[in-house]
Parts: sequence; structure tokens; C-alpha cells
Amino acid sequence: MSKKIASARISEKSSKLLQELNNSLPFDKVLYREDIEGSRAHAYMLSEQEIISKKDYQQIEDGLVEIYREIELGEFLLDGDDEDIHMAIEGRLTDKIGDAGKRLHTARSRNDQVALDFRLYVQKNTQKIGDLLLKNISTLIRVASKNTQTLLPGMTHLQHAQPINFGYHMMAYASMFKRDYERFLSSYERNNYSPIGCAALAGTPHPINRKTTAQKLGFKAPTLNCLDTVSDRDFALEILFNISTMMMHISRLSEELILWSASEFKFIQLSDKHATGSSIMPQKKNPDIPELLRGKTGRVNGNLVALLTVMKGLPLAYNKDMQEDKEGVFDSVKTALLSLQVLNEMMDEMSINVENMEKACMVGHLSATDLADYLVKEVGIPFRDAYHITGNVVNLAEDKGVDISELRFEELQSIDERIGRDVVALLDNRASMNARQSEGGTSTIRTLEQIEQLTCWVDSKR
Ligand code: ARG
Repeated sequence: MSKKIASARISEKSSKLLQELNNSLPFDKVLYREDIEGSRAHAYMLSEQEIISKKDYQQIEDGLVEIYREIELGEFLLDGDDEDIHMAIEGRLTDKIGDAGKRLHTARSRNDQVALDFRLYVQKNTQKIGDLLLKNISTLIRVASKNTQTLLPGMTHLQHAQPINFGYHMMAYASMFKRDYERFLSSYERNNYSPIGCAALAGTPHPINRKTTAQKLGFKAPTLNCLDTVSDRDFALEILFNISTMMMHISRLSEELILWSASEFKFIQLSDKHATGSSIMPQKKNPDIPELLRGKTGRVNGNLVALLTVMKGLPLAYNKDMQEDKEGVFDSVKTALLSLQVLNEMMDEMSINVENMEKACMVGHLSATDLADYLVKEVGIPFRDAYHITGNVVNLAEDKGVDISELRFEELQSIDERIGRDVVALLDNRASMNARQSEGGTSTIRTLEQIEQLTCWVDSKR
């Protein structure tokens, strides 16, 4: 039911097509909680400042609480032809309480109102995403803790490079998620300022108190400049960017899970809960879940680029283009929340094939660098020369069809007599992994140290 409550200059009823293009209610109705929360705080401030009477305030407050209840119970459906959620709720309030309802919009514009609602939504969901990130970090730590001795071929260029342990690999992703968490947190802090009271663009002649509303709504303070505030969507861009970066990390992990599930690797097995079959090939078990997580990254990137593009040419202050800010954010937030929950469950329930991981370490002469490092450290050979000697040892192993760690002492010495007997033990893959004891390195001891540090960090956030 369109009451046209904000059309003092427009006499004709809008065309159906205009309504279809213009109305945001079909999607911004998800902001009803924030809209009501914001209006309650605004009305409270108006009455504190004696801009409206206590009686009007009480009617507004009761009316808004009642409308909230109606929406939650499905009694007020938000499917009318109101232009947006702000008009729908204000219209409903006025229908219920009459003149007092018409006073709610004093010293306020939809420009600061939408900036407030949307910011509240973004702040709330930033916290939800942060909590789920912490949960995922804890799960990765748990998987890592069980696998600090599990050998895995560490790769560069997707080629076997050096032996690492699987726990260390998991901790790499945990570290990415920690940065993601910190990125969300810093956006939260940077944007924790209240837009309400900016009115259309220039403030208001009414004696409002923006500190009151800021405090009531949980913000640190009011924003500095109203012209900026009503046209600022950096907070929305930040959550989109933060989600994109996080999804890029999830996508990289997903890609590895997909590879590791393939017959060529068989390093892991996803639980049947997280795999699907093929409609034609009865033998198949497909990693659809990580594939979808990888695919969803494309759509959240699209949402980021879309809003950057919407904003890039807008003059100050509010322009209706900015109504295009919401759907992408809603979509990215929904995608992020679901992806994090699914990822957590999947990582928690996947099984690890230790034997295959360790077998794979026998391919590719993973400990070759250890021989070069030995020649430098123990014999004093310059690294570049040691590198070439090691190359010859690798060629010998290739000729014999074995891994460098399987060469006998005599065979090693046939390449360079300075190679001592102790090298044989050094070339063992587990010894190689454990030799990397530099800070942040893969040795079990250093991995455990990383696990401990990150565990303390997670605890400090809870
Ligand atoms: N539905 C609008 C939006 O989402 C609300 C703000 C409208 N402001 C205006 N001056 N028309 O952006």
C-alpha cells in the first residue's frame, strides 16, 4: 500500500515501470531490524532533546516495537509497493499511531537513515564473520596438532620441492585466516561511527545530539562531516574487499583439497557428507563442496567490482545510484557466512591419508637442498658450488631410478669425496623436515611453536 508519504511535489501516481526500477523494498527489507533499531534511537534522542514530546516518543517507541513483532511473526509482510524499508516502516507506524508517527522523521533524512541502517548491518555481520573465522582457525589448529609429524611434499610451481609436515601446511592457512580476521576487525573499528543526524547532507537546524544516538547504537562517536557521511560507502566496500580476500584464501585451500582428493594424490578423503556422486558414473565421488567454495569466490569478487564501479563517478552527496550498494553486500555476506560454516565442518571431518603423503615424499629428491646445505655448513664449500655438486648427485639418483634419500654412502662419495658418512642420515625426509628449525620453519618443533602462538591469539579474542 503506497501512501506516497514522501512526495510533496509529485501529484501523479508513479508508473508501474518506475516503481519496478525505483523500489528497493524487495531487497532492502532485510534491513528491518536495523531500521527499527535506528528509529528507536533517533526518537529517544529527539525526546531527550525536547524536540518531540515524551508522549509522542512513547507512542513511537511502542509502535516500533509492535511493528518489529509483526514482521518477525509474519503479520506484516513487507511486500507492498512502498519505495523502501524506511517508507514501509514509517508508513506502518503512522497508520498505527497517527501524528506522532509523522514526527519521527524530524531532523532526519532517508540519506542518513539508510547510511545508518546499512552500516549497522555491515558492522553486525563483520562480527559474525569474525567469529566464524576464529572457529575455522581453531579447527585448522586441531588438524595441525594431530599432524606435526605427518610428512608431505612441500611444493613450489606445483612441483615437489622440500619435505614439510601436514600440520605446517594447515598452519599456513590458519595464518591467512588470522590476517583476514584482523582485516575485518580493523574495518569494524575504522567504520564504528554513527551517521544518524546528518540529515540530507548538511546537518539540521534542530538542536539534536548525535552523541546520544551514537552511544545508544553502540558506535564510538558520530561521524565528522555530514556531506561525506551520507555519500560514504567505504564501509560497504571494505566488507566486500575483506570477504573477497578471505574467499580467495578459502578458494586456494579448496583447490588443494580438490587436488588432494584426486586419484593422482589421494592425500585426503572428504567425508561422504561433503562429497556427491555423478548421475551417470556410479563409481564417482566428487568434491563438489570445495569446488563450490572456489566458484563462489568469483561471485563475491563480482560484487566488489560492481560497487567500486557504481561509486567511482558520483558527485557529492547522495545519489540514487547508491541504492545499488545493497544486493551485492547482502549476497557476499550470505556467501561468506555459509562458506565459513561449510569449510569448518568439512575440515573437521576430512580424513588424512598419512601413508600416501609420506610415500609421495619419496618422489622428487625432496632432500636435495639438505645435501647442498651440508656441503656449505660442514665442508665450507661456497653455496653455488655445493648446488652443482648436489645436481650431479641428483642425476646419479635419477640414473639409478631411486630417490636421493635412498643413495648409499659409497654412491654419494663417488660424486664428491668430501661428502661424509653422516650425510646419509641427513637426506632422510623426516630429518630434512626437522632440520628446518629457523623461525617460522617447518620442523615439528617450530610447527608446534606456531600452533601454540596462534592458540594463545585465538584465546585472547574469545
Ligand atoms: N532506498 C534508498 C537507498 O537505498 C534510500 C535512500 C533514499 N534517499 C533519497 N534521497 N531518495 O539508497
